[in-house]
Amino acid sequence: MKILVTGGAGFIGSHTVVELDKAGFEPVIVDNLYNSNLDVLEGIKEITGKDFPFYQIDCNNAEQIRALFAKEKFDGVIHFAAYKAVGESVEKPLNYYENNLISLLVLLRAMKEFNVDKFVFSSSCTVYGQPTELPVTENTPRLPANSPYGNTKAIAEDIIRDHVHSAPGIKAICLRYFNPIGAHETSLIGELPNGVPSNLVPFITQTAAGLRKSLTVFGSDYDTPDGTCIRDFIHVVDLAKAHVKALGLLDEQTDADYYDVFNVGTGEGYTVLELIKTFEEVNGVKLNYTIGPRRAGDVEKIYAQSDKVNNVMKWHAEKSMADALRDAWNWQLKITPEK
Ligand code: UD1
Repeated sequence: MKILVTGGAGFIGSHTVVELDKAGFEPVIVDNLYNSNLDVLEGIKEITGKDFPFYQIDCNNAEQIRALFAKEKFDGVIHFAAYKAVGESVEKPLNYYENNLISLLVLLRAMKEFNVDKFVFSSSCTVYGQPTELPVTENTPRLPANSPYGNTKAIAEDIIRDHVHSAPGIKAICLRYFNPIGAHETSLIGELPNGVPSNLVPFITQTAAGLRKSLTVFGSDYDTPDGTCIRDFIHVVDLAKAHVKALGLLDEQTDADYYDVFNVGTGEGYTVLELIKTFEEVNGVKLNYTIGPRRAGDVEKIYAQSDKVNNVMKWHAEKSMADALRDAWNWQLKITPEK
């Protein structure tokens, strides 16, 4: 099956391209390189030994997307390409709504026109807001999003559901990711944030590598065992494999209007301080950090109940948080210029 991977040069996208290849799919990468670069494609090539087709296209460009669909004859689409900085989305909401939603509409229209019937979408646990019950299941009610970024994910899920149910012959799965961390075990691909990272693990690895002075832990007065936030940290390679399973599940569906959502997390929550301690232990490095005030918009605690993805997709997280933190550190060492 030939699969269009939008955002295929990004963090989760690049790892998914590798897993798709391993499973016998033919990935075609589309990326506008807004938050990624061509080195990622080299890394993919080194791991797989293959040079997958790459198109530098913005998914908001309907004409270029249509031309691509006409040329490549896809069997399915995995749509990663999107803006994802929570804080920036609060400052520039229109950019987020425009970029994240127009691209979705462009792709869904192209799929319909060219009879492509399998769609996997990158959603996020952010759609649950601060849940009142933990762990969250797929039936836990979605709450109003804390940020325009989060709202784009909730709206996108609704658009996809409505579209599928209007019987266009498209089957779709939304994967609600928890917190992806880590890097490929070969250290040939990993997370490459542009500028100052806003996510925890790239900030930690850059600090440990001496590129940043100190990490600020955002808040120590939450209602958790050590006062810091709890998250469900999932290895990016495990998350990538969930996309392969999702495509398999879509392929098995006989219902023309199949639509479903799945949590993709490990099912275990760890605090920010537990993660830092594990990072120091597995890598034998000391991290410079201080405790600071809470970050606006942060959810206190969230972790997945992963029964549905375990049972229906036969997907299980295979790697631990320690594995992910070791891989993230090895990747950082690989990309940090020698001093
Ligand atoms: C957020 C979004 C998530 C999105 C992801 C993508 C929410 C609730 N979650 O995840 O949907 O996919 O961003 O960017 O909107 N932390 C520090 N110091 C730092 C950085 C982070 O203490 O320098 C803490 C945060 O307060 C948080 C945890 O580490 O408790 C994880 O933060 P981060 O990696 O930014 O991810 P989320 O905010 O959970």
